[in-house]
Amino acid sequence: MTKVLVATSKPFAPVAVQGIRKVVEEAGYELVLLENYTQPEEFQKAVADVDAVIIRSDKADKAVIDAGKNLKIIVRAGAGFDNIDLQAATAKGVCAMNTPGQNSNAVAELALGMMVFYARNFYNGKSGTELKGKRLGIHAYGNVGKNVARIAKGFGMEVWAFDPFLKKEEIEKDGVKCAATVEDLYKNCHFVSLHIPANNQTKSSINYSLLSLMPVPAVLVNTARAEVIHEADLLKLFGERKDFAYLADVEPSNKAEFEALYKGRFFFTPKKMGAQTEEANINAGIAAANQIVKFLKTGDRTFQVNK
Ligand code: 3PG
Repeated sequence: MTKVLVATSKPFAPVAVQGIRKVVEEAGYELVLLENYTQPEEFQKAVADVDAVIIRSDKADKAVIDAGKNLKIIVRAGAGFDNIDLQAATAKGVCAMNTPGQNSNAVAELALGMMVFYARNFYNGKSGTELKGKRLGIHAYGNVGKNVARIAKGFGMEVWAFDPFLKKEEIEKDGVKCAATVEDLYKNCHFVSLHIPANNQTKSSINYSLLSLMPVPAVLVNTARAEVIHEADLLKLFGERKDFAYLADVEPSNKAEFEALYKGRFFFTPKKMGAQTEEANINAGIAAANQIVKFLKTGDRTFQVNK
């Protein structure tokens, strides 16, 4: 029998798993669940005899892909697929997909939520500030960026965006101001929210020369990936500028230094939780299951990322 494995070290909400199960079983397949696992070997063992896998931020590296003797497709229920070894997948003839847009509202709500949390002094009772009228720069205007713009406009923020892959008109039609260059975005905005993927071009790209352009006071919001930040540069800037704050859904590797030196100027979620809502889990999980069924039954490769 065709088997579909859901391998999630950070599980989906139970209601999403029920939805995934329904799609898989109605297709005549068997659902195999590996939740809350801690060791990569557990994933390698579970993948051995399955035809398809659904993952979240779980690492689908060469060892996992090679261990999947019958593996035909791996779907990242989410946007970023930097956790899949695409070369290894291609080499084994395994189709890799993501589910773009399915969890973007949840991530955007967290980005704005963190901004309010910081502007109100982490809800400590002291007088804070408001988002209304403040300038927000959205770095990369994709699915998450667009949702951030929509919500930020509701707060009355002045929204700017920079995206090298979009025309000015595509940004401006949403009532968002288009920054001509990435430097302009950082120069203009007191809040910058990152929505770039982690790849060879973007890793460590958010560096001193870019961040130091931000006006006083500055708040950097990262619900994207830890790797896009040049962490040593960010710490250097923290040392130079008392007005600079960093809010992240991904703990930096030098978190201990922030804790020791810069209390009150940062917030890091303990676990990546931008997409941790029932709605996002249902959307992304069920989309992944449907994509697998369509691929296995008809060969449909929409959303393939390892072409
Ligand atoms: C994504 O790339 O879709 C988000 O970062 C969500 O990741 P998660 O599924 O591990 O929460």
